[in-house]
Amino acid sequence: MEVVVLPDTARIAALVADAVEDLVRRRPDAVLGVATGSTPLPVYRELVRRRDAGVAPDYDAVRFFTLDEYVGLPAGSEASYRCTIARELTDPLGVDASHVHGPDPSPDGLADAGERYEAAIRDAGGIDLQLLGIGSDGHLAFNEPGSSLASRTRIKTLTEQTRRDNARFFGSAQEVPRHVLTQGLGTILEARHLVLVATGGAKAAALAAAVEGPVGASCPASALQLHPHATVLLDDAAAAGLERAAHYREVWEHKPTWQGL
Ligand code: PGA
Repeated sequence: MEVVVLPDTARIAALVADAVEDLVRRRPDAVLGVATGSTPLPVYRELVRRRDAGVAPDYDAVRFFTLDEYVGLPAGSEASYRCTIARELTDPLGVDASHVHGPDPSPDGLADAGERYEAAIRDAGGIDLQLLGIGSDGHLAFNEPGSSLASRTRIKTLTEQTRRDNARFFGSAQEVPRHVLTQGLGTILEARHLVLVATGGAKAAALAAAVEGPVGASCPASALQLHPHATVLLDDAAAAGLERAAHYREVWEHKPTWQGL
């Protein structure tokens, strides 16, 4: 796992945007896994800024897959992850809606929604680069503590902590749906490159457990330790709990310039 600690969010966003654009230039029909929440927004703004400046690659053939989705919101709700990713990223990038996929939360299809989403990812050829955040309880996508490291896309129940953390998108914790559809940890581990971003001190404990603690279901984000190409980008506050922070900084400072993320 590569751990990159940087002093500011803008630098993190620029590096992740570089990795996304490098991929899309190499592979114009790349498959991008996209995350929601507050953390990836600076990355999305940077990608959109570059497109508006006329220096971005062409996203016409890129396919997008979201990590997860709420169950039980009214159709078309602005808080849904489908609408969020369209608003923050794919619409401003000019991507056709037919190239943007998410787990389907319609009530009559929930029983096989996970299998259908897994099939859609498989049919696209698998995810090339998966953006990830981390929950303050260590969740990865909406795989809450206790999730199987081998899990596939399925329905899950959010913890009280996650519902409190996400209340800002709804008005109150009570309005945050209890149930979600989420890619499983086993699904996420099949993406070819995992890129996790964490910013702010509220993530420090979960991040330290994920990166330096034991691999286990009690900290779902620790599954990253099983992946052959995982990159973790942090600001100083999110890195505050890491014991080997000085080493990660040294590695980054002396990294061969040809290597990329
Ligand atoms: P956040 O969410 O970026 O809004 O903190 C991250 C997550 O829950 O995975």
